[in-house]
Amino acid sequence: MQLETLIKRLHKKYGDALHTLYLDTVKFEPLPTFDLQTITAISLSLLVVGPDYRCRGIGTAVMTDICAYADKYQHLLVLHPGFHTTKPYSRLVKFYTKFSFVKARGYNNKITGMMMYRAPCGGKT
Ligand SMILES: CC(C)(COP(=O)(O)OP(=O)(O)OC[C@H]1O[C@@H](n2cnc3c(N)ncnc32)[C@H](O)[C@@H]1OP(=O)(O)O)[C@@H](O)C(=O)NCCC(=O)NCCS
Repeated sequence: MQLETLIKRLHKKYGDALHTLYLDTVKFEPLPTFDLQTITAISLSLLVVGPDYRCRGIGTAVMTDICAYADKYQHLLVLHPGFHTTKPYSRLVKFYTKFSFVKARGYNNKITGMMMYRAPCGGKT
């Protein structure tokens, strides 16, 4: 299934509750200082649940669907928590950690930025 099809299906499934969803295919040049070897990934640049629908499990359900797609097609997922919002970074990190996202590490195994990634289940990074 194409990524565009997934996005359409999720909007149909969640209706107004899913306000914004930006998912794109990204290609990484594997840098020697980067701990990921995967070249192609899916970037989740923005997920917004409609204000009237928050804290009812919609965000969790949408993320569960996105992770299931990533697992099925063996895609790495990447995101920058709160990059397009003013929401608290630590709360978003906690949210994404529930879906097995981890903070990206760079040279010397140090956390160097705000990026988080999730390796597909059963796959390799
Ligand atoms: C973050 C967001 C997508 C979560 O969707 P949701 O449907 O409210 O989430 P759920 O009901 O499934 O789960 C609740 C969890 O979401 C996270 N969450 C909820 N509101 C949040 C907020 N204002 N800021 C950060 N995280 C939030 C928390 O981890 C929360 O768990 P907690 O109550 O134990 O802290 C939603 O709050 C939202 O759209 N926020 C505004 C846009 C945004 O910040 N998007 C993320 C950009 S990376």
